[in-house]
Amino acid sequence: MAATKLGTLEKQYLEESSERKRLYNEVIELKGNIRVFCRCRPLNQAEIANGFASVAEFEPTQENELQILSSDSSKKHFKFDHVFKPEDGQEAVFAQTKPIVTSVLDGYNVCIFAYGQTGTGKTFTMEGTPENRGVNYRTLEELFRCSESKSHLMKFELSVSMLEVYNEKIRDLLVDNSNQPPKKLEVKQSAEGTQEVPGLVEAQVYNTDGVWDLLKKGYAVRSVGSTAANEQSSRSHCLLRVTVKGENLINGQRTRSHLWLVDLAGSERVGKVEVEGERLKESQFINKSLSALGDVIAALASKTSHIPYRNSKLTHMLQNSLGGDCKTLMFVQISPSSADLGETLCSLNFASRVRGIESGPARKQADVSEHLKSKQMAEKLKHEEKETKKLQDNVQSLQLRLTAREHICRGLQDKVVRFN
Ligand SMILES: Nc1ncnc2c1ncn2[C@@H]1O[C@H](COP(=O)(O)OP(=O)(O)OP(=O)(O)O)[C@@H](O)[C@H]1O
Ligand SMILES: [Mg+2]
Repeated sequence: MAATKLGTLEKQYLEESSERKRLYNEVIELKGNIRVFCRCRPLNQAEIANGFASVAEFEPTQENELQILSSDSSKKHFKFDHVFKPEDGQEAVFAQTKPIVTSVLDGYNVCIFAYGQTGTGKTFTMEGTPENRGVNYRTLEELFRCSESKSHLMKFELSVSMLEVYNEKIRDLLVDNSNQPPKKLEVKQSAEGTQEVPGLVEAQVYNTDGVWDLLKKGYAVRSVGSTAANEQSSRSHCLLRVTVKGENLINGQRTRSHLWLVDLAGSERVGKVEVEGERLKESQFINKSLSALGDVIAALASKTSHIPYRNSKLTHMLQNSLGGDCKTLMFVQISPSSADLGETLCSLNFASRVRGIESGPARKQADVSEHLKSKQMAEKLKHEEKETKKLQDNVQSLQLRLTAREHICRGLQDKVVRFN
């Protein structure tokens, strides 16, 4: 009886392993560990009323391309791992995100973040609205669903932390700060060498209802303000951290992994958004930390040995979940409006850089440039060899002339001697 049960379990375990492998390969095959999705929001009422047109064009058959109509009416082409059109809903976005988030159950650290100009839908993508929930809630829902379906083989414990980085300060969004002054949180290195935030609330969650209540509580205390570009602008980076502890019921193996879901504060150029005073200070902190994040991602993508994680609280905190064999997904959020063309091109160029360096074609491009460089060098060398030969000929002819002059000189000296 026990032997049959064990046999069935073993069979299930093997099936499960191969399915997991298949899913894992699906993720890996998706061009390395850094992936970029682009999402374009619809034109809003104000833009329509002001007569701004859409500059974003999508190929109906191509799900990973978009074109931006430039001011000189030329078209700029961009390619990403997936491009979401204005009419694509939260469900479509999550369908593409799902394989990445669920790899946290296999013990991988994952980091997903939404990047882009203020008012382009970062918070909409990650947090969503009660009727139209975003990646955060859907992820937890999916994690519960998956852990349930694997419950005969694996035992999972899920806990959630929520914090914001506001003006380079870390604030716990789940702490009951009714009458106590907020606790100062810092990033510290643990004995195992991982980055931790001691004192951060880690709330265990058991079902989707519990999660929704928790998320609502955190969202409610996040720092938002209003800028000329967005009524409800996020002035902080909001990080939702899901910790997954897994125990394999067959071989007793344990895993602990993190999934970070990051809604960044809006990247905007000071000046355009008419910010001043406190808002200006916030903007400067936001821009500084976003460029630190950009530097980290660029360093990771180009595989340099030094990754500047410590240049900002945000990157320092994400250190264990960015790079290495962690999975990173960036949503580059854009506006379709002609009024935002400059910012849109900036974001898309940054995102292309992130994606391009990592994936195949760009590497090839790097090879092409190497090839070109050596070709140029060879030509230069040839040219220099010619020049050297010319100089050598010159020297030779000068030496001949010198010898001739010396000869004449000696003849003259002989004459002088004879006259005397
Ligand atoms: N894909 C979308 N479909 C419908 N509405 C959207 C979409 N994306 C964004 N919006 C709406 O646009 C407005 C601005 O979006 P959101 O607040 O998410 O921008 P943000 O990028 O988080 O800006 P900030 O950087 O200022 O925080 C919101 O009212 C949001 O509901
Ligand atoms: Mg926001």
